[in-house]
Amino acid sequence: MQRTEDGQTVRLVDYRPTDFVLLGVAMTLKLFEGRAEVLARLSLERRPGVSANAPLHLDGDELVLESLVLDGAPLAPETYEATPDRLMVRGLPESGRFELAVETRIAPEANSKLMGLFRSNGIWCTQCEAEGFRRITYFLDRPDVLAPYRVRIEADKAAAPVLLGNGNPVDSGELADGRHYAVWDDPFNKPSYLFAVVAGDLDLLADEFVTMSGRKVTLGIYTEKGRSEQAGYAMDALKRSMAWDERRFGREYDLDVFNVVAIADFNMGAMENKGLNVFNHKYVLLDPDIATDTDYAGVETVIAHEYFHNWTGNRITCRDWFQLCLKEGLTVFRDQEFSADERERTVQRIGSVRRLKAHQFPEDQGPLQHPVRPAEYREINNFYTATVYDKGAELVRMIATIVGPQDFRKGMDLYFERHDGEAATIEDFITCFEDAAKTDLSQFALWYAQAGTPTLTVTESWDAKARRHEVTLRQSLARGTAGTGLEPMVLPVRFGLVGGNGEDSVADGQVAGSAKLKDDLIVLTGREATITFNDLPDRPYLSILRDFSAPVTLDHEQSEAARLALARLDPNLFNRWRALDDLVAEAMTTAAKRAPGDTSPALKPVVIEALIALAGDDGLDPAFRAQGLALPGESDIARQIAENVDPDRVHEVVDAARAAIGTAGHAVLERLRDEFASSKEFSPDAASAGRRALSNAALGYISAATRDPGPAIAQYQSATNMTDRSAALAILAHRFPGDPQTERALDDFYRRYEADDLVLDKWFTLQATAPAHDTLETVKRLAAHPRFTMRNPNRVRALVGAFAAANQVAFHRADGAGYEWVAEKLVALDGINPQVSARTATTFRAWRSFEPGRRAKLEQTLRQVSETKGLSKDLQDIVDRSLK
Ligand code: PHE
Ligand code: ZN
Repeated sequence: MQRTEDGQTVRLVDYRPTDFVLLGVAMTLKLFEGRAEVLARLSLERRPGVSANAPLHLDGDELVLESLVLDGAPLAPETYEATPDRLMVRGLPESGRFELAVETRIAPEANSKLMGLFRSNGIWCTQCEAEGFRRITYFLDRPDVLAPYRVRIEADKAAAPVLLGNGNPVDSGELADGRHYAVWDDPFNKPSYLFAVVAGDLDLLADEFVTMSGRKVTLGIYTEKGRSEQAGYAMDALKRSMAWDERRFGREYDLDVFNVVAIADFNMGAMENKGLNVFNHKYVLLDPDIATDTDYAGVETVIAHEYFHNWTGNRITCRDWFQLCLKEGLTVFRDQEFSADERERTVQRIGSVRRLKAHQFPEDQGPLQHPVRPAEYREINNFYTATVYDKGAELVRMIATIVGPQDFRKGMDLYFERHDGEAATIEDFITCFEDAAKTDLSQFALWYAQAGTPTLTVTESWDAKARRHEVTLRQSLARGTAGTGLEPMVLPVRFGLVGGNGEDSVADGQVAGSAKLKDDLIVLTGREATITFNDLPDRPYLSILRDFSAPVTLDHEQSEAARLALARLDPNLFNRWRALDDLVAEAMTTAAKRAPGDTSPALKPVVIEALIALAGDDGLDPAFRAQGLALPGESDIARQIAENVDPDRVHEVVDAARAAIGTAGHAVLERLRDEFASSKEFSPDAASAGRRALSNAALGYISAATRDPGPAIAQYQSATNMTDRSAALAILAHRFPGDPQTERALDDFYRRYEADDLVLDKWFTLQATAPAHDTLETVKRLAAHPRFTMRNPNRVRALVGAFAAANQVAFHRADGAGYEWVAEKLVALDGINPQVSARTATTFRAWRSFEPGRRAKLEQTLRQVSETKGLSKDLQDIVDRSLK
């Protein structure tokens, strides 16, 4: 399967198993200052049926081969070829098991890509997904090669008193010269991407968990010195995750130990290595003074996500990287369900849908479009995308909706039963639900192959005389850059017919066209279907696509009156939120399309009243009310405008709408702000977080309306937790940029938190996202700040990433200076960390949607980057595809 002729593109259709079977791995890693020596002893066997003279091909990446030994005898140089990228060995035994001992030497200190073995603040740490193991030793580095590993780590005892590996610890002891060793044994077959080793001077937060069958598991969270107290919430989240997976999916943990390590330099959020999860410390370390409620929720989700991978990803892994959504989509679905059970379901669902629309929809509608299961790639690192993760989760959610909760659980049980210990495919997964529910999901499988966001068009017609309501659903899929099929898909559409009393009418419907109707679910399978509901007392309000039951663009012409009614009455809370959100988004989109200088208000008074009424409704959960107050973002509006976007105009409209809501709702907002303000005792639970969110949302509107920084200054100074303090500082930095009081608060924040890198990241981001043209000058200054570094991915994301992704006004400055600055940083960063540069570059992808001036400048910048000599494969792939 590996490289095809052109040496670039890997294709799903080319999959075939390896010629050699890996039976086991025994490794020794000797860590020294400045170098590491790696000895890997691979037990191998030629696969039955493979030609006797087929050579063994192993992957490498920047490796230096020290020695090569076959069954105890050094190999003659003419029997093998080694380059930094590969090792080919000829003349291996025709049958039976043999041992190949491969010795390599690597330089962790020089590894700025953070793939393979690297050092983070002195800690030795590995990252192997997707293709990092080949940067440690020559290997069959692909997910369908599974084996048990035994790993011995040796290091200086003072530099690395803690030595961690996958599986269970089996031996440890002293060596000469102040060195020591530890041996870890992982009995579960695993692919190389789940390999991990950590060594360093770390603090430990220890705990334990007793599983449902009564086994005791030792839990450890390792942090940099002095920070283990900040891992308490992560530990709590871990134990809740373990209990939830037993309750909800019957999945028990399988090793004697489960360790988590938090490190400062990490390309992604975290990694699910077997028994040894490695985390970006942003998703572990918290206390009320340094972390916001959003940070707490993020830690809970990521801890759960990585833990859940133990079954969905590790025990059952992926046959090849095209199946990435098999573990990621499913595990996101599982972490979403966990958060829904632990927090509040509707509020969580709103958050997931916002995320999907903000990140996945633009990806699916632009040049980086790809199906949930891609058919080809040049660089797999670039496919850890919102489409694979978040749309992947939506597909699992739709399967659950279609087969129902009982059969969904039955299908999952079947999946674990059938495929435990295997490297599986999407087909394997789908078959389990077909068998459990005795249904045919072959049409559903199109969701994995066809890229793009389908549009669901809904029309209604009410016949007052006959008391009959007709609802017509149509689906369509536009041709996108992926060029995949456009066949009708299976769309599960939850709905209700809401009466004036706020109750769903129970009405039997007759279906004409390709759809099935059962209770509150329509499953549309053809391009069009009409459902007729008879004997209704009155014209109902149609509440369609409840809980966002399918990831589609909804095109439903519904009167303002009907939407306002649903915003008040819909028994489905999610749709209550969406009725208002759609009204607001459409009004802002329309206003932003009007000529510049047209200052007629975007939002009608009735819409503002409805928003305020929802926010002020004490019968509703504060977290939900805060969601109601969160306006669509500027990039959401830009996406809906779709062409000739002028980001300045969009900003103007959103800004004016915020002020208008603040003015009209003043009395209610003042009350919310006071009533829900933090109490002294901080608790991170969802209910308390929801109250703070509501109070801070209110403060934002009040500040926008009064143009007075006073209340935000006061809150900044008196805050007793980071949620309130950073919310106040964000209002100051974004609404009152350049104001001397803002400057003083920013300086104060820096001095208070200078010692803490995670809080410093917030300081960089708050400034980088200020919506003003001269923020570009600010970020240039910040890039020269002594605390800015290109070597820490969090810091790069906090400044460059945040500027490019979350500052529509300054990044998209009409003179193109924002583009130039980001491009320059991208190229510099690419020489250090290609994964991070490639991800940052995706902020250029929407270039075709802008007005001609910006469009031309964006395109020109992309071309310049693309033509730069010596770009990484990662960055080259993103810019080339973006220009497609
Ligand atoms: N597999 C990780 C997760 O989703 C993400 C990751 C990918 C981390 C690649 C590092 C490298 O949980
Ligand atoms: Zn994952």
